Amino acid sequence: MTPAPAQPATQVLVVDAEPHIPRLVALLLGDGHVVDAAADAARALERLQAVPYDVVLVDLELPGGGAALVERLHAAAPDLAVVALAAAPTLQSAVAAMRHGAFDVLRKTVSGDELRAAIERAMRHGALAREVRRLRGEVDRARGLGEIVGESAPMRQLLALVERVAATDATVLILGESGTGKELLARTLHRLGPRAERPFVAFDCSALTPSLLEAELFGHEKGAFTGAGRARRGLFREAHEGTIFLDEIGDIAPSVQNKLLRVLQEREIKPVGADHVVSIDVRVVAATNKDLKALVAAGHFREDLYWRLAVVPIQVPPLRERREDIPLLAGHILARRRGAAKTAPGATGAARYPATLTHDALARLLAYHWPGNIRELENVLSRAAILCDGEKIRAQDLDLAGLAPSPARTARDAATVDLRGLGDHRTLKDVVDQAVRTVEKAALTQALDEAAGSPARAARLLGISRASIYNKMKEYGLTGGDR
Ligand SMILES: Nc1ncnc2c1ncn2[C@@H]1O[C@H](COP(=O)(O)OP(=O)(O)OP(=O)(O)O)[C@@H](O)[C@H]1O
Ligand SMILES: [Mg+2]
Repeated sequence: MTPAPAQPATQVLVVDAEPHIPRLVALLLGDGHVVDAAADAARALERLQAVPYDVVLVDLELPGGGAALVERLHAAAPDLAVVALAAAPTLQSAVAAMRHGAFDVLRKTVSGDELRAAIERAMRHGALAREVRRLRGEVDRARGLGEIVGESAPMRQLLALVERVAATDATVLILGESGTGKELLARTLHRLGPRAERPFVAFDCSALTPSLLEAELFGHEKGAFTGAGRARRGLFREAHEGTIFLDEIGDIAPSVQNKLLRVLQEREIKPVGADHVVSIDVRVVAATNKDLKALVAAGHFREDLYWRLAVVPIQVPPLRERREDIPLLAGHILARRRGAAKTAPGATGAARYPATLTHDALARLLAYHWPGNIRELENVLSRAAILCDGEKIRAQDLDLAGLAPSPARTARDAATVDLRGLGDHRTLKDVVDQAVRTVEKAALTQALDEAAGSPARAARLLGISRASIYNKMKEYGLTGGDR
């Protein structure tokens, strides 16, 4: 079977217990096709690891069940063109095969023309499915940064850097206080990069003792240590061709530091108890809220490992240094919670979840120093949403560590706000006015989206009157159905 010169040959795998069937298929298909045979499911799956087949023909009467193999093939390679064959297909068996992912079901008495046509259709379908997935990936990537909220100068700089670095394979070290969004950034780096379709494996390195951590990361052989009942592949291999995110990297013990350094240098791992090495292909992103350089200086962290990890260091600014993002973030968090509350089992409707905050409440959020950063903001808003009864979160609903939740103090707290984080010289009243508008506009936009552009339904979602939604829409230049 010599392939036609211009077009590559179509690679076909025939899975049938009867050896003459693949030979028959090869004869029927003729030039331009390379036909391989597998006598059972196990051998078929093995062949599939080795050869990028264009199409797989599966005998439905295969011992062990042809439909079951179709299902496994479909699960392993959703875009693979799978066609079922049967000596005497019944309506039931044909429907079952197609439900499990077969594109077509053919009688074994099929003619060469019919078989070629069916294979072509199945391949076209597979190519389309691939294309759809690629486009979906592109849309996701375009939307990629959308999840990270922030318009402040430090955030804009950070996001530009993230976009540039994501496209490369460089090892990244993310530094920042707790709750600043380090993990979110790591996921975004992965999603925007060339490895997006492959796994993202996140692991908190502070959670295990050194020997368990080593086994978790690099895998181990069966019986390598007490309790190692069976072999494990380890996270580096689970992340194959994807990204491994090593969180709390500042907490790993010297023995694991040594191993990790070797892995990063050699790009290969040696599972615990094994006498062989395995090469790896992963992008490494690490994060810590510790001052890693200080740990290096104090002799607690290997300097050579530091430089291996910090090929591109990314410093995430604390929230108090970008206070102008607070209104945006608050709007984003409330909108997301409303969405989740609405779809949660037993949900009583998004209208129960406040859409916005009062003037005083926002002033307090802006004044606060946020030691726990965005995670703390999320927690504070969640608690406030439960405490408040009404459409708005009020100042007295906010329980900010170290600040008495008394509305009477709001004005004074606010008056002493350190405005440096706001990056400009407006008066506090201007800043808060602006913040209220930002949150309100976000809530309106979100509600209109959810209501498919219907102002009446959006008003119901927000728990406000129709008259006020029309006023607000005009105020913010928002339109309904035609958006
Ligand atoms: N810029 C942002 N926009 C929107 N949400 C954010 C942003 N940054 C962080 N978050 C949210 O804040 C929460 C904390 O973020 P994340 O877990 O990534 O932080 P972290 O730095 O890893 O925190 P920790 O040190 O506590 O592990 C998450 O729910 C995340 O979605
Ligand atoms: Mg984290």
